[in-house]
Amino acid sequence: MVIKGTLTFSGDKSISHRALMFSALADGESRISNLSTGADVQSTRECLEACGIKIRDEGNEVVVNGGKLSDPIDSLDCGNSGTTTRLLLGLMAGQGINATFIGDDSLSSRPMNRIMDPLYQMGLKSESNDGKLPITIRKSELNGIQYRSPVASAQVKSALLLAGLGASGDTSITEPILSRDHTEKMLSELGANLSTAGLATTVSSMTSPLSPFDLAVPGDPSTAAFFAASAALVPNSVIVLNRVLANPTRTGFFATLDKMGAAMERLNQWDETGELIYNLKICHQPLKGVTIDENDVPGLIDELPIIAVLATQANGKTKVYGAKELRVKECDRIHAVCKNLKKMGADIEELEDGFIINGPTPLKGADIETFHDHRIAMAFTIAGLVTNGDVVLDHPECASISFPEFYDVLENLKQ
Ligand code: S3P
Repeated sequence: MVIKGTLTFSGDKSISHRALMFSALADGESRISNLSTGADVQSTRECLEACGIKIRDEGNEVVVNGGKLSDPIDSLDCGNSGTTTRLLLGLMAGQGINATFIGDDSLSSRPMNRIMDPLYQMGLKSESNDGKLPITIRKSELNGIQYRSPVASAQVKSALLLAGLGASGDTSITEPILSRDHTEKMLSELGANLSTAGLATTVSSMTSPLSPFDLAVPGDPSTAAFFAASAALVPNSVIVLNRVLANPTRTGFFATLDKMGAAMERLNQWDETGELIYNLKICHQPLKGVTIDENDVPGLIDELPIIAVLATQANGKTKVYGAKELRVKECDRIHAVCKNLKKMGADIEELEDGFIINGPTPLKGADIETFHDHRIAMAFTIAGLVTNGDVVLDHPECASISFPEFYDVLENLKQ
């Protein structure tokens, strides 16, 4: 079996969430095409609709009529989505909305204090379950603050910037390492008064609504990573990935694949509404181990499970440090990766903030615990392409959180 084909992806999950949220704050009609088809982005859509925003499908486009948000009647169900929860908490706090946020078991165990602490400092009145969901926010007068975030997190940064749009005075956030910058780029483009200086971003109170916009969301590099990895792993494979987002805060996986020695070619690269996009060709080549440290982590945080799978087939040691954020994702991804790879026969050592893998080792089929985490399900499905024996996932359906078409697309690539 080899992997061969050309793919074009549905839109980047992070940009899709933001496109829906920012079009809701815009004065008029926005048209978004190639929106992510994942359940997470659907959660954002439903939360905005519950707050009175009219959103409809028209052919390939999603049309959003922005305007004033209203208090939802029921709790806002954010499903499995950390981005929905954290960004909407900030956005709704800034817009003076009264709402209760709930989510599934995984989301309800994830830390929300990282955004609730600075939002309290801004003056938000709220109640939470000891820093976790359910969280209720009450209409409050917010004041801008200067906040130094202990974590490099685009969700924290975005939550504060969105709250800052509705606060009096300026709101600044400084992060330790630059995280994905879609919020800053998109808000500036849409007319918010926002500036960046090094690792600090400052936003002023919104004096007029954002401008409505048309956007074709670029392909999701975090989804593309699984298919790139499939071609890199299986001998004689070649894949072309079209229209993938090439924003420099998101290219860490492809830079790592390059360092590992995969044959990778940028076919072309262009700029589209402020974001870089490229077409990529990836062919199988023997891989070698790499070191990833805390400075690299924000640029490939969601891709670390698939990097671990690649590392088991690479020559030499792969070391991942400074990635303790992985422990508070949809599941504890360090534990999930180490437990499942050990079962498959990999040589992997678990660290508090990462792992060390000695490769290459043959992988054997195993029953995989996904922990209901989409990226674990997809990473171990790709591992299954090079195992002796079957990989059986306990909850394959969780891939639909980001990419419902995953298994069908992969099947079509097998030749
Ligand atoms: C995201 C930011 C990252 C990432 C998540 C999406 C975003 O989370 O892991 O999948 O869209 O802002 P953190 O900000 O918590 O690192």
